Amino acid sequence: MDSDALTHPTDPQLATHALADAASAAGYAPSIHNTQPWRWRLAGDTLDLHLVRSRILQVSDPDARLATLSCGVALHHARVAVAAQGWHVTVTRMPRDIGPDLLARLHIERRALVDPPSVLHLRTIPLRHTDRRPLTDTPVDPAALAAITAAVETQDTALHTLRPDQVLELAAAADYAQRSEAADPAWQAELAYWTGAARPAGTGVPDAVIPDRATQTTVPGRDFGHRGELPVSAEHDKAAVFVMLYGNTDEPLAWLRAGEALSAGWLTATENGISVVPHSAPIEVIATRQAMRAMIASTGYPYLVLRLGTIDPADTGTPRTSRQPAEQIIDRA
Ligand SMILES: Cc1cc2nc3c(=O)[nH]c(=O)nc-3n(C[C@H](O)[C@H](O)[C@H](O)COP(=O)(O)O)c2cc1C
Repeated sequence: MDSDALTHPTDPQLATHALADAASAAGYAPSIHNTQPWRWRLAGDTLDLHLVRSRILQVSDPDARLATLSCGVALHHARVAVAAQGWHVTVTRMPRDIGPDLLARLHIERRALVDPPSVLHLRTIPLRHTDRRPLTDTPVDPAALAAITAAVETQDTALHTLRPDQVLELAAAADYAQRSEAADPAWQAELAYWTGAARPAGTGVPDAVIPDRATQTTVPGRDFGHRGELPVSAEHDKAAVFVMLYGNTDEPLAWLRAGEALSAGWLTATENGISVVPHSAPIEVIATRQAMRAMIASTGYPYLVLRLGTIDPADTGTPRTSRQPAEQIIDRA
C-alpha cells in the first residue's frame, strides 16, 4: 500500500469486512476443553469480544481464569488478522463501564502498512493444534525457546523455564491435581460432558485427539477419564521442556493478557517446529497453583504450564478438533 492510501478515509464496509474476517480467524483459537467461551459483536468499525458465561467450566474453572485466558488467545488471533490485512486498530481491554462480560473492544482507526510477521502468524493460525503424542529426543532449540519467550513478553506476560528439579515438582503437582479433581463426581461429570456426545456441536475434545493409552511421561498429561483413539508410541518425552506463563497480578485483565501471550508464543513455536501442549490441572487446584507460585519465588502469579518439544515429522496427520461455524459466534448489529 502506498503512503497516500494510508491517509485516505477508511472505507466503512472494508473495515467491517476486515473485522468479520478477524473474528472468523479467531475461531481457530485453542481453549480449555475446546469450550470456545467467546462471542463477537460486530458493529461498523467496532468489534467486541464477550465472555460466554454458560461456557465457563463451573467446577474446574470457577473464577473463569482459564476461560478468560482462552478468550485472550482469540483476541490475539483477531489482532493478528487485522494487522495482516493492513489495518491499525485500538484495543480497549476490560471496558467495565459497558458490561462485566465485555472483555475487549477493537476499533479500526485507519489503514496501515501490512505487518509481515502478522501475515506469517495468520497463515499459522489454522495449522496450530494440540498434539498429545510423546515427543522425540530432539532437544528444544535454545533459539526457538528464546523466540517463544520474547513473543510471550511482548504481551505483558513472563515465561519461566522450569529447572530439572522443578519439573519433578511439577510432575508431583500435576499428579496431585488430577487425583484430587478426579475424586469429585461433579468434576468427572463436567469432563465427561466436554468429551462426550452431549457437548454442543463443533466444541469439546473428541476421542481422535486423546491418546489410546497412557503416554510415557515424567509430567502426567491431562487424564481425560477414558482412552481415546490417538495412536501413541512408547517413547518417553525426556527431551520435553516445561515453561510457565506468569505475571504480576491474578485478575481478569492479567488472564486476558496471558491468553494473548499464549497465542503469540504458540504461533511462534509452531513456526519454529515446536509442539505445545498446555497443562492446566496444576493451575486449576488452589494447593498446586500455590506450589507453582513457589517456583517463581512468589514473585508473580502462575497462569498456565506448557510442554514444549518436537514431534516426529513422520508422525503427520494428527486429527483436528472442530469449531463452531463463524455465523454462530459473530452477532452483527
Ligand atoms: C487455557 C487452556 C488450557 C488447556 N489445558 C489443557 C490441558 O490441561 N491438557 C491438555 O491436554 N490440553 C489442554 N488444552 C488444549 C485444549 O484442549 C485444546 O486447545 C482444544 O481442545 C482445541 O484443540 P486444538 O488446540 O488442537 O485446536 C488447553 C488449552 C487452553 C487454551
